[in-house]
This record gives sequence, C-alpha cells and structure tokens, in this order.
Amino acid sequence: MEKITKELSGKTALVTGGTKGIGKAIADELASLGATVIVSARHEPAEKLPYHFIQADVTNSDSISELAGQVLNQFGSLDILINNVGGTSAPAGGFSVLSDEDWENDLQLNLLAAIKLDKALVPSMIERNTGVVIHISSLNGKLPLYASNLSYGVSKAALNNYSKALANEVAIKGIRVIAVSPGMVNTTAMKAFLHNYASAIGKSFDETQQLVMDSLGGVPMNRLAQPEEIAHLVGFLSSPKASYITGTNYVIDGGTIPTTF
Ligand SMILES: NC(=O)c1ccc[n+]([C@@H]2O[C@H](COP(=O)([O-])OP(=O)(O)OC[C@H]3O[C@@H](n4cnc5c(N)ncnc54)[C@H](OP(=O)(O)O)[C@@H]3O)[C@@H](O)[C@H]2O)c1
Repeated sequence: MEKITKELSGKTALVTGGTKGIGKAIADELASLGATVIVSARHEPAEKLPYHFIQADVTNSDSISELAGQVLNQFGSLDILINNVGGTSAPAGGFSVLSDEDWENDLQLNLLAAIKLDKALVPSMIERNTGVVIHISSLNGKLPLYASNLSYGVSKAALNNYSKALANEVAIKGIRVIAVSPGMVNTTAMKAFLHNYASAIGKSFDETQQLVMDSLGGVPMNRLAQPEEIAHLVGFLSSPKASYITGTNYVIDGGTIPTTF
C-alpha cells in the first residue's frame, strides 16, 4: 500500500505544556500533520495521550536542561519547538498589589522559560541548518490590562521582543522564529483566571468575562477562541508552507485589536 506523506512527516516536535488547553490542541494538530510529537508538563495527564511524555517544570533551570537532554538523546534532533507554557497566578488590582514574587514568577514562566529552553535546543537546530521555534505569547503583550494582569502582559511583551531578536539572529542559519498572540481562549487557565478575577471584584463569572472583553475594547466576534483555532495557525506556521515567514507576531483575537498594527 502507498504510504501517505504529510506536511510534517519525518519531523519531530516538542510542545511544552502540551497536555492541556492550547498546547494539547497544538500537539494534536502537529500529529495530524504527520509529526512525531513530544509533550512536556509538570504532571502526566490522568488520561494517557498518544504522544511521548516528558515530565518537566519549565520554571526550574535543571528541569529545562534535563528536558532538552532527554529530547536530543531519545530523538536525536528536534525540528519544531513550541514554547507554549505560560500564564499567571498574580492577583488583579494594578501595580501596587503586585509583589516582587508575582513579577518574578510571571517573568520566569512567560519569558525566561522559553529563553532557557531555546538556548538549550536551538544550537542543535543551527547545526542542522533547519528548525522552527514558536513562542505562544498573548494579546496582552500588545494590549496591556493594568487592572487584571499587568505582570503577565509585560512578560509577554518582553517575549515578543526577544522572539523578534532571535528570529533576526538565526534566520541566516535556516531557523524560523515566530510569535503567536492569542486573545481570549476557552481553556482551564482562562476559566481559572476569570474565576479568580470575579471573586476579587465581587462579580459573577459571566459578568467578569464580559468585563474583560469590554476592557479589551470589545471582541468583535463576541466569543472566546477555541484552542483548535490557535492550533491550526501554529500547524501552518510550523509547516514548509510557511517557509518565508519568520520574525513576525501573529495576533489571533477575533478582531479585538482596534488598529491595523
Ligand atoms: N487561554 C487563553 O485565553 C490564552 C490567551 C492568550 C495566550 N495564552 C497563552 O497560551 C499558553 C497556553 O495557555 P493555556 O490557557 O492553554 O494553559 P493551560 O490550559 O493551563 O495549560 C497549561 C499547560 O502548561 C503546563 N504547565 C503549566 N505550568 C508549567 C510549568 N511550570 N512547567 C511545565 N509545564 C507547565 C500544564 O500542565 P501541568 O499543570 O501538568 O504542568 C498544561 O499542560 C500560555 O502561554 C498562555 O499564556 C492563553
């Protein structure tokens, strides 16, 4: 029987935080395009996924080194690196309520984790003159919300700047580096954020979701994205069809950003 070759056949991809939410949808998308998929997270999911799982906490430098080492030892090389882990547990309320620890945690999870993992894995891509690195950023990296998640948005803004700089540095070596900035996506993390924010401001979950949408200036599509909608974009950007795309930042937000930048 003739073997069907898909766009990512023969490619190996690592998706950090690939067990839930956007990361899980990206893992499914890359696998559907033919890639061998590795997912990492702090906890192995109760329901086993059809992917190779590596336990790693990306806020810990030793754990990042071990993750990179295991990927290269077990798979020989990596073609696609999706730095997906991110989020925030910092309280709402603006600059005055954020502790040093809140700032350090958000910078660690949303910025330094990706920088450290790239540093561990991009050199092996450079050796082979091929690779794709995608940073899952956020709309808040461009559109800061001071009342609800200041330290998160600032960390993602720094990630955007770093992603552009890395893209320019390694483009000549055959590596493409891209940021993807989703608006509000229907995941457990988004639900937890809205629940926490709702209790901080004494409103219902639905009122709070509307409030956050309004504070963004409104979401023209008037709904959250589904994780799969983000994953389809990441699948395309990871594929050879996107061979001239690097150094860009794709906002995928249902029309939220009100200008054309
Ligand atoms: N949801 C949204 O509306 C939205 C909007 C814009 C951008 N984003 C971005 O999209 C990305 C994914 O968000 P999501 O909403 O899909 O999150 P999620 O549903 O909470 O999933 C997070 C994933 O990351 C893993 N993880 C969390 N902390 C980790 C750590 N310290 N080390 C290793 N793995 C860790 C989780 O597994 P374990 O808990 O087992 O570790 C899980 O697999 C993030 O970068 C987020 O900032 C999300």
